[in-house]
Amino acid sequence: DKGTYPFYMLKEIDEQPAVMRKLVQEYFDSDDQPQISEKLLQAMAESDHIYIIGAGTSYHAGLIGARMFEKLCGVPTTVHISSEFAYEQPLLSQKPFFLFLSQSGETADSREVLVHVNEHNWPSLTITNVDKSTLSREATFTLLLYAGPEIAVASTKAYTAQIAVEAILAKALGEYLSRDAAQNFDLKHQLGTIANGMQSITDSKEDIEALASRYLSKPRNAFYIGRGIDWSVSLEAALKLKEISYVQAEGFASGELKHGTIALIENQTPVIAIITQDRTAGLTRSNLEETQSRGAAVLTIVSRHLAHEDDNIIIPDVDELLTPLLSVVPAQLLAYYTSLGKGLDVDKPRNLAKSVTVQ
Ligand code: F6R
Repeated sequence: DKGTYPFYMLKEIDEQPAVMRKLVQEYFDSDDQPQISEKLLQAMAESDHIYIIGAGTSYHAGLIGARMFEKLCGVPTTVHISSEFAYEQPLLSQKPFFLFLSQSGETADSREVLVHVNEHNWPSLTITNVDKSTLSREATFTLLLYAGPEIAVASTKAYTAQIAVEAILAKALGEYLSRDAAQNFDLKHQLGTIANGMQSITDSKEDIEALASRYLSKPRNAFYIGRGIDWSVSLEAALKLKEISYVQAEGFASGELKHGTIALIENQTPVIAIITQDRTAGLTRSNLEETQSRGAAVLTIVSRHLAHEDDNIIIPDVDELLTPLLSVVPAQLLAYYTSLGKGLDVDKPRNLAKSVTVQ
């Protein structure tokens, strides 16, 4: 039931702080330690490479998770689009571990990979929102997202829940492997801060609605740009805008723009920069200025400690690995209000189904 909300998508965006708190409840014990079964940690610890498999938004959540497994656990991790991996498998490591991300647990492209994984008896985990879904039943292990049903076609709370569960798993595995980075990662506390931070962003809906109307209501195309983890969020931000508002949006590595794509920037082309990482903030800003000097209408989503006076959307500071949990929220809202402003059916965009059960 969407209650007083005009669309499920807005309700689901607003539910994200509660989902973060629920995940803390489900996955942490009273000593603030993540609770993950020993068998799963053992299977992951024995592997020499984690292969993350997903489609669409779940693939984008995997891009964030891979950084966590590498930084907190020291395990090489790569992320793959399921429909590609199924038919053009890369050369695998000696002891692969497969991590499936799927909100519905029913995506045919991802299942195709799991069938193959099971033929080889490789260990696997599905992180899903739907208990006893196909991908959950057929994988060796399951972790649940506890996000509650996601009804809007455009995925929002499942994306942030997937990132949070990946973080919990990476912390648990890193500690199991005695990695300092994981031991020093105060994840439970961070997730509490993030829940409050999400809340403060969703409380400023009117500002974001005004920005959507000013920057995104007319143009046919737009860019999200960033570096590293901000680039990964740009891909998800652009997908949200495309699928519900029909603006042709590209998520782009900001440093790569000048190698060709900047030719697309015209007068008033919206370019939205996501800036949350100390090491690359200055570089992304200069890339943004390069687009601005070609006429782009620039907009910024920036972590507080990196913010300048003329930035548009300021998000609270959190650990650098977890910034996607906050930076994506304004992007979800920008997509929502752009779609709403155009009078579109936000929850049921054309040509799309919630669960994609064909290859
Ligand atoms: C985008 C979206 C899709 C799904 C994709 C995978 O908003 O919802 O891109 O993320 O179809 O679905 P699941 O996660 O159910 O496997």
